[in-house]
Formats: sequence, C-alpha cells, structure tokens
Amino acid sequence: MARSALLNVMVQAALKAGKSLSRDFGEVQNLQVSVKGPGDFVSQADFKAQKIIHDELLKARPTYGFLGEESEEIKGTDGAHRWIVDPLDGTTNFLHGIPMFSVSIALERNGEIVGAVVFNPATDELYTAERGGGAFLNDRRLRVASRRVLSDCVIGCGVPHLGRGNHGKFLVELRHVMGEVAGIRRVGSAALDLAYVAAGRFDGFWEVGLSPWDMAAGILLVREAGGFVSDFNGGTDMLGTSSIICGNEHIQKALAEVIKRPIPTK
Ligand code: IPD
Ligand code: CA
Ligand code: CA
Ligand code: CA
Repeated sequence: MARSALLNVMVQAALKAGKSLSRDFGEVQNLQVSVKGPGDFVSQADFKAQKIIHDELLKARPTYGFLGEESEEIKGTDGAHRWIVDPLDGTTNFLHGIPMFSVSIALERNGEIVGAVVFNPATDELYTAERGGGAFLNDRRLRVASRRVLSDCVIGCGVPHLGRGNHGKFLVELRHVMGEVAGIRRVGSAALDLAYVAAGRFDGFWEVGLSPWDMAAGILLVREAGGFVSDFNGGTDMLGTSSIICGNEHIQKALAEVIKRPIPTK
C-alpha cells in the first residue's frame, strides 16, 4: 500500500494525537471536563488532541483551511483545500473509560473528500483512504460486506442524546429497522461506525444530526471500500444535511427505504 505524502502527514498527525489521547485515557478521572450543553461534554483531552493535529497539519500545509470541532473554522488562503478534523470522536465513551473512540481527519479538495484517516488508539486500528486508491485497515485492503438481505445484517446507528435530536423520529426509525435486521449496534463514535462499515463489520449504518467532522473521513472510507453513501433525502449532501445512510449498494438502498417509512398514525 503506497500512501501519498499528504496522507502520511495526516497519519502522523492522527498517531501523535492518538498518543496524547491514550495517555489521557489512562488518567481519565483527573481530566478537566466542561459541559457544552445537556449530555454534551468536552475535556482537556479533546483540546490537546486538536492542537496537536492542527499544528501538524498546518506545519505541512500552512495555506489550507481548518475545520475542527473544538475551535472556530480557520479559512485558508488556499481556497481549494480544507482539513476537517474531529480530534476525539466518542468523547462520552472516552470519559466513561470505554475504549471505543477515534481521531478523524479528512482532507477536502474543491468540496470533495479526497483523503481520510480514522484512528482508534485503544485498539491500534488505523483506517486510511485516498480517493481512487482504496481503503485500508492498517495494511489490509477493505471491502464492504456483501450480504444482500437485511434480515442477515448487523446495522450500526447513532442515538440522539439528551437535549439534542428528534427522539420521537429516531424511535420510529429504530422500530422500523429493528423489525427487518439481524441486529443493531450503537458504538458511540460515528467515525468508527463508518470505518466498521468499510471493514465489513457492520453491513450498514444510519444517523442524523452529525457534524461534518463526525463523518467526512468515514464517508471516504466507505466509498473507497466499495460502499454507497447517501443523505436522508437520497442525495449526497451528507455534510450539509447532517444525515447519512450507508452500506453496500443493496443494503444502502434497502435501509434507506425502511428509514423513510412514515410515522404510524396510531
Ligand atoms: C459524537 C459521536 C457519536 C454521535 C454524536 C457525535 P463527539 O461525537 O460521533 O457517535 O452519535 O452525534 O456528536 O461529540 O464524541 O465527537
Ligand atoms: Ca463533541
Ligand atoms: Ca464527533
Ligand atoms: Ca469530538
């Protein structure tokens, strides 16, 4: 697997941030935590990881824009390129000592995602993709699962948290999907959910209410592993609509149909 120089910069940034997260994960009870809103936390670990990534990426490409969860967007002088970064995806898991969290770094060129890195430091799993070059887990090339029938499938989802999202609508989606599939999982890191779809661990995934940094890298991983990705309207404006449904060609379509079913009137 040959990585471009730019992807290597992203990998190095993710690994360095991952080291910092691993250290903080070992002493999670001592971390300073603040509350952004109901059920929405951020810690020193998030801020430290973002600074590491920001400094590494901007050192390599000072003119690119930078959109990271924990700071205001920085517009670059190079209008074509932008980094989209979640320094710690799965903060709630992290703060509860659950080793399912990730660093997510995407590179956008003229509005298209062309590079992706998702790294889980707790399992040492490094997912990478470049547009047209395939998706990888460490050195292994990835392919989405090939199951064609929903009743054989394990599907990942996001669950809206306290104070955010339409809980009633989600429960209807869940009820509809639950009635069709073999199993449903909630990992707690959207970037990892998408990486799991790319790796064929999940047959599909859906979530609404995501931010660009939660899914930009994961979208490219799924596509480069041969998967299909759409927003809730059937288009491809996932970042603009905050919604995503994905899987292989068959499962993505079938899942989208089930999720679209109307809310029962009684
Ligand atoms: C969250 C995770 C979670 C998703 C939430 C996100 P954060 O990101 O991706 O899986 O359900 O909507 O906000 O806040 O832990 O980076
Ligand atoms: Ca957050
Ligand atoms: Ca996130
Ligand atoms: Ca985050």
